[in-house]
Amino acid sequence: MSVFKIHTFTTMDYTPLTKASKLPEVKTTIFTTVGNLARKHKAINLSQGFPNFKADSKLKSLVNEAINIGYNQYAPMQGYYGLREVISDKIETLHNRQYNPESEITVTVGATQAIFTAITAFINKGDEVIVIKPAYDCYEPAITLNGGIPIYVQLDAPDYKIDWTAFQNKITDKTKMVLINTPQNPSGTILTKWDMEQLEKILKPTNIILLSDEVYEHIIFDGQVHESASRFPDLANRSFVCASFGKTFHVTGWKMGYCAAPAELMAEFRKVHQFAVFCVDHPVQRALAIYLKNPSHYLDLNNFYQ
Ligand SMILES: Cc1ncc(COP(=O)(O)O)c(C=O)c1O
Repeated sequence: MSVFKIHTFTTMDYTPLTKASKLPEVKTTIFTTVGNLARKHKAINLSQGFPNFKADSKLKSLVNEAINIGYNQYAPMQGYYGLREVISDKIETLHNRQYNPESEITVTVGATQAIFTAITAFINKGDEVIVIKPAYDCYEPAITLNGGIPIYVQLDAPDYKIDWTAFQNKITDKTKMVLINTPQNPSGTILTKWDMEQLEKILKPTNIILLSDEVYEHIIFDGQVHESASRFPDLANRSFVCASFGKTFHVTGWKMGYCAAPAELMAEFRKVHQFAVFCVDHPVQRALAIYLKNPSHYLDLNNFYQ
């Protein structure tokens, strides 16, 4: 007689696979829903932040050239150095903050990957992250996936301004990170110099990390100035500043962005980045490194939109 008992599986033995979901609340995104409706009704799709202007033919030629020259293998993990160098020059010229291209700038798969990577590198179970609502939809799942707890500061119509006293009241000894977005999606508000100074004052006595999503940095009107976190030394010293070439050059489909942060923070960021994507599209990086050398390519965007 066999000593092995043959077990017959019944449906009772199985936990449904979906029970293992780490994001049980997440359904189809609003972008997919509205995108499908827009296609069905041949409507203009305003649900997603992609421009319907054509990419500059100069930029497209530069990408073609890079492919033809043969930049078709992996780029360096942190990004092509030549691109990191021009990004560093751009930030220094616009915001008077020096980022070392070697250790403080990483090229990413759009701003989304930069945001996800920064959150993953620092948020542990039970850490609180302050999120200004309404917010772009990738923040919350990234926090939750890492065991963090989103803590909301709600903005209200008509001006969608941050009440800094209410904001300060949300800070606890568990607050690990604050997420801001200026110019803001979806409200279109911007954080002024005064706003950034309030934030700087509030964060100064803490060791809270700031994640500043600045993908619309060059889409700002009426002579207003984009107040990047990199302009404020006490903020810059604790910040990940995330940007997107997709938004700036009408090439959202290329998914190309970057993140700038002090070396100590960036070292942790890169530990995640190297295993999440390792590196980013090489020919596009080569092309952008040349294209970005002409500042009018991004500085004229305000007037274009105005
Ligand atoms: C506020 C905000 N952050 C980030 C992103 C994503 O940028 P990327 O396409 O470079 O990942 C978007 C895209 O709509 C956005 O609106």
